Amino acid sequence: MQVLRTPQALNRRLEPHRNKKNSVGFVPTMGFLHEGHLSLVRRSKKENDITVVSIFINPLQFGPKEDLNRYPRNIKRDKSLLKKENTEFLFIPETRDVYAEDFQTTAKVGYLSGRLCGRSRPTHFQGVATVVLKFLNMIKPSSLYLGQKDYQQFRVIEKMVEDLNLAVHVKMHPIVREKDGLAMSSRNVYLNKKDRAQAPVLYQALKAAVRAVKTGERNTSRIKAGMRQVLKKAGTLRLDYLEIVDARNLAPVVTLDKNVRVVAALAGFFGPTRLIDNILIKA
Ligand code: PAF
Repeated sequence: MQVLRTPQALNRRLEPHRNKKNSVGFVPTMGFLHEGHLSLVRRSKKENDITVVSIFINPLQFGPKEDLNRYPRNIKRDKSLLKKENTEFLFIPETRDVYAEDFQTTAKVGYLSGRLCGRSRPTHFQGVATVVLKFLNMIKPSSLYLGQKDYQQFRVIEKMVEDLNLAVHVKMHPIVREKDGLAMSSRNVYLNKKDRAQAPVLYQALKAAVRAVKTGERNTSRIKAGMRQVLKKAGTLRLDYLEIVDARNLAPVVTLDKNVRVVAALAGFFGPTRLIDNILIKA
């Protein structure tokens, strides 16, 4: 595995592959890798000639009171995990090589960024879209791999790619879960023992929504009421939002229709730790 630290070095190494028309898969991460990330790497490896993984804790996507400074890091472990997957390139840039001192241009995906997580994290998706756009320009991959756990992020980036005519396929990969259903996330390490035991309730609520739809329920208020009942089991959970939205435009849906794919999405705090999860549902 070649580890590259600057956009210039990365470009030098990728140029021969581009000239040979090799397909390049790109997996952007903020490190502290888990099976969810590794499943993206495996898929990229399967579908492309070479795979580039980035590890960059992007300051632009953290709000002033968020966890930028304590975001978990373990580069040594990440490198060894990526080596085991036979990853060809690892890009670990410094912040100054991504954002020059007088950096002043950002990418903003309008409506989609303001929905769901965007309400409590108003600048988050602008930060995500900006860094992903920059990395797409640096790497020029054929395909970009994103996890379904950050479904809104996937849609924001997919829309940016469509709106700006970027030449990359955006591919979403299913959520990888712990045995008890908790969606894998680098932030799960923040949870204390009690909260960790309660956290699978998020997935249990999502499964309750799927069950309700299977038994014929089409009214999203009633589906959400059932989900809230499940969430009550977790005494320490502070719900941020619980919504059932159109999977494409993330607009709220009142009555399910068999022609519209919806996503049930939620976010909640266990102590200071904010977790998200979602499930795609077809009526
Ligand atoms: O999902 C993440 O880890 C980040 O939002 C991403 C896509 C790497 C951009 O910083």
